[in-house]
Amino acid sequence: MARKTVLVTGGAGYIGSHTCVELLNAGFPVVVLDNFRNSHPEAIERVRKLAAGSLKLVTGDVCDSACLERLFAEESIAAVIHFAGLKAVGESVAKPELYYRVNVGGTLTLIEAMLKAQCSRFVFSSSATVYGDPQEVPVPENARFAPESPYGASKAMVERVLTDVAKANPSWRVALLRYFNPVGAHVSGEIGEDPLGPPDNLFPYVAQVAVGKREYLTIHGNDYPTRDGTGERDYIHVVDLARGHVAALDHLDELHAATAINLGRGIGGTVMEVLRAFEKACGHPIKHVVGPRRPGDVARYFADPAQAEKLLGWRAEFDIERACADTWRWQSRYPDGFRTR
Ligand code: WQD
Repeated sequence: MARKTVLVTGGAGYIGSHTCVELLNAGFPVVVLDNFRNSHPEAIERVRKLAAGSLKLVTGDVCDSACLERLFAEESIAAVIHFAGLKAVGESVAKPELYYRVNVGGTLTLIEAMLKAQCSRFVFSSSATVYGDPQEVPVPENARFAPESPYGASKAMVERVLTDVAKANPSWRVALLRYFNPVGAHVSGEIGEDPLGPPDNLFPYVAQVAVGKREYLTIHGNDYPTRDGTGERDYIHVVDLARGHVAALDHLDELHAATAINLGRGIGGTVMEVLRAFEKACGHPIKHVVGPRRPGDVARYFADPAQAEKLLGWRAEFDIERACADTWRWQSRYPDGFRTR
């Protein structure tokens, strides 16, 4: 794709900030829209230090149609990568109306602004949670949808909305990128995952135990039918994921209407394997106990990444060891993330 301006909603977030670095490295001018509800302005300053190029920041909410109308009037946006949204599975069960308002409503507001501005290139941050408990692994894109949380259901709904909008507007090209488990940090250690409050996810929790912010890791069950009894997931390095978005932009014109693409390694890793790799990265043991299974967890879950390679010429490069080393560099340098003094 020609190097025209890309709007990145949620561009100050974990995956958004890493994607901005790769977009700038690839020569795309970037405009970030972020409301900083679950991110920090310092992340944008760090991105500016990590990659040369034009990066403008608009502080605002994707649900605010007036803000979007002004943005599309002032900037010539050729494509949108839409990260802005809520993503805590547990919170979505407690507040489903909030998740549908922001994730589905926010995307509808964005689509309406794009239609008005005649911007027809859309890359959507979807999630493998649309599959629910997969009937087969590795999981292909045509696996049945069975989202189990309002979060997963909101992602499935947005995919349906974008598919229908692409059908109604033949000039539109949409990539529905389904992430497996994003982990890791930029090799500089300057940006990384910075969860507010106690992390739900394995990697940030292990990292916080390793740096002494948390006392120990609870392993949610070790009686699963996997090679060591602990849950198995497809941990994809966030920089690989970011590069997958650049590849999607570069191939968007060749795709048909709305196309779903898994972004994963296609290789599973267990909780124990992550723990051991992290101990190697940080150089000391990580205290852990085995607790009961976590409701809603499945045993094994990893991508069939063949479509990404075929359609985007993209495949993940980095393994769990690299992701642990990069996460440790970020976490040990900034124990309180972007709020570290
Ligand atoms: C991974 C493994 C746990 C924490 C979630 C969301 C999904 C997506 C990615 C947004 C499992 C085990 C975890 C802990 C543990 N996010 N674990 N102790 O559940 O695969 O997916 O994040 O799209 O929507 O559902 O990731 O990191 O929570 O768990 O033992 O303290 O680590 O049981 O086997 P998950 P996770």
